Amino acid sequence: MTDDDLDAVMAIETASYSTPWKQDHFRNEIAARFSWPYVAVEEGRVVGYVCLMSLFEEAQILNVAVSSNHRGRGIARMLLMESFRLARERGAEIMVLEVRASNDAAISLYHQLGFRRVGVRIKYYESSEDAILMEKSLKENP
Ligand SMILES: CC(C)(COP(=O)(O)OP(=O)(O)OC[C@H]1O[C@@H](n2cnc3c(N)ncnc32)[C@H](O)[C@@H]1OP(=O)(O)O)[C@@H](O)C(=O)NCCC(=O)NCCS
Repeated sequence: MTDDDLDAVMAIETASYSTPWKQDHFRNEIAARFSWPYVAVEEGRVVGYVCLMSLFEEAQILNVAVSSNHRGRGIARMLLMESFRLARERGAEIMVLEVRASNDAAISLYHQLGFRRVGVRIKYYESSEDAILMEKSLKENP
């Protein structure tokens, strides 16, 4: 992801979330030393992205989204697999993330890729919805 991608990224972000990140949040990820924001590009267009942070043994998925008319084609899976590869390369041993309890599509994606539920933050989102904490060992495949 570069600054040139931000208009396309923001269009996907605002269509995907009720409380989307602001553009500056992505700018910070682009600049941050331990962050690797990636875009998926199809025919020259940004169709999805993932924001990965990797610091010593732990990596974290901060955000992943795919444009609504490109979903169901393995793009998120590909972005996450690339994140696993990159995090392993940086020396990470586990990958963690948080997801809204109601987000069945994302939870099923994470399960498919080997994440397991390790905790819950009660009423974490807008003081009403739980956050499910998930974790995956990067020592196993995929
Ligand atoms: C969650 C999201 C990133 C998935 O992107 P995607 O590119 O459509 O996902 P993929 O095509 O790579 O799907 C891979 C697997 O995820 C699961 N999955 C994806 N969408 C699903 C859905 N709508 N319902 C159930 N499972 C789903 C399936 O297990 C799927 O594997 P399969 O194709 O073999 O059945 C996308 O729906 C999205 O952008 N949602 C809004 C943003 C969001 O909620 N991000 C996650 C925040 S924690």
